Amino acid sequence: MQRILFVCLGNICRSPAAEAVFASRSRAAGLALATDSAGTIGWHVGEPPYGPMIAAAARRGYDLSALRARQVTLADLAAFDLVFAMDRSNLADLAALRPAAGTAELRLYLGQGEVPDPWYTRDFDAALDLIEEGADRLVARLGTT
Ligand code: 4NP
Repeated sequence: MQRILFVCLGNICRSPAAEAVFASRSRAAGLALATDSAGTIGWHVGEPPYGPMIAAAARRGYDLSALRARQVTLADLAAFDLVFAMDRSNLADLAALRPAAGTAELRLYLGQGEVPDPWYTRDFDAALDLIEEGADRLVARLGTT
């Protein structure tokens, strides 16, 4: 089973949303995948996702309330097959963390694009639009491999 990790900065806005959206879309597509999310910083470890993101996701039918933030570890970069960063800064942090022998493939979630951080933009719906678009793309790609 492929293991997929979604990573952002705090693990309380974008990556937990990506985890939930992708889990929902991949289940609907009949794909059996293991998914998780983590943050590059440890400031919010143990916390649920940020309230405004929980609310925006709930309006679209995704329940983020049971998720808890954790920080990405070196072990993650061996345990997961694919690691998706929400923006280039997250990707650079992951690349710096990855040991030479790290096996995970590190990629930007949106290919060439980024999911702007709603912690700063305050636009949780814009982030969710991009996250849903990325999940659909990813499901389509994984469904054909
Ligand atoms: P996230 O958003 O990376 O999408 O979870 C952030 C959450 C918290 C902080 C920054 C970004 N923070 O600085 O605490």
